[in-house]
Amino acid sequence: MESGTAVELLVYPDDCDAYGHLNQAGFLRLFERARWELLARGPGVDLFERQGVWPAVRKASVEFLRQVYPGEHLRFDIEVGHWGETSFTLLQRARKLANDEVAAECETVFVTIGGDGRPVRVPAAIGQFFGVRASRRTGASRQYAVRGLSTAVDLTGDGPAVLFVHGFPLDRTMWRPIAATLTGWQRIAPDLRGMGLTEVPEAGYTMANYADDLVALLDQAHVERAVVCGMSMGGYVAFELLRRHPGRVQALVLVNSRAAADDAEGRTRRDGMIARIRRDGPRFVAEEMLPRLLAPTTLQTMPDVVRQVRSMMTVHNGAGLIGALEAMRDRESALPLLPEITVPTLVVHGSDDQLIPVAEARVMAEQIPHAHFAIIPSAGHVAPMEQPVNTGRVIREFLEALL
Ligand code: MLT
Repeated sequence: MESGTAVELLVYPDDCDAYGHLNQAGFLRLFERARWELLARGPGVDLFERQGVWPAVRKASVEFLRQVYPGEHLRFDIEVGHWGETSFTLLQRARKLANDEVAAECETVFVTIGGDGRPVRVPAAIGQFFGVRASRRTGASRQYAVRGLSTAVDLTGDGPAVLFVHGFPLDRTMWRPIAATLTGWQRIAPDLRGMGLTEVPEAGYTMANYADDLVALLDQAHVERAVVCGMSMGGYVAFELLRRHPGRVQALVLVNSRAAADDAEGRTRRDGMIARIRRDGPRFVAEEMLPRLLAPTTLQTMPDVVRQVRSMMTVHNGAGLIGALEAMRDRESALPLLPEITVPTLVVHGSDDQLIPVAEARVMAEQIPHAHFAIIPSAGHVAPMEQPVNTGRVIREFLEALL
């Protein structure tokens, strides 16, 4: 998944602190040196100057993952995280040459400043050097081609993999509060086909398509097995992964989800929603579902969460929502699968979920051999966003026990 541009640097004693470690500040300098080296070996260190601009660093953050000592060689890869009008984000990763372990990751946001000190459009020549073909706002995520579809993925960290699968009508960003706390794990959070910033295919699709997309994504990331953490519809996809690709699932986390298929009433409700999206467009979905997705306490006391969930619900287009509704309507029941699940499983559920009763989740957990069950107080259907600290802690403890 990495771009081909890499620079190798030796760590000198004066890169390190008084204790002989490469600390955060040292890493920041080395990431900068790697960028200059890359320019020096390519178009020249005066690339920006020749375009009449200066790349001012607006923000830089380093995720420190492993100790590095003087004398070690590091290889720095670089990718574009975001390409905007007057700014761009570079994502760098430093690996130890000796064992290929990731030592640190760095995200740097640049603003291109013109001669008069104001932000100006990023010159095309700079985009060409970094291999940017299309400009698309993706925030912290990157676009990957997965089975022919441009797919938005938040990919962070290094270590055993956790694949996060979002619910409906949400997107990969719902996992950010939890993913941020799971250092030591490679966190992979894609937007499912048709949702968020992932392309919508022409024809309709099923749970099987979602599951196969995720396996193709794991292949691209060279991940053999991942802990699959699915919220609600993401849980339905996780069951499909277990059915179709059991060897790829190391463990299962089912958040605010259920095993039963839609009953006749549920299918009729989905058909009604599909017809209404076709007739009126997708705007009503957010307003209608929001009060049921979130716990009353969240609605009353957490305006930021309400705003985030609402804006997440309005990024999808009608075709993507219809694709997901059809896939959910036609999904198989996972009830027969439950007693046969052999991987470690955690079932987490918000105490105030209005869409899937907590009692149903408890019964599901009881049917999965040795499953753990946790209730998150004061959370509705979107526990990872409503109560990220508690939900994150429960998930982290489960993951740590797997190591
Ligand atoms: C979800 O949160 O993914 C959906 O509410 C699940 C569903 O509609 O069955």
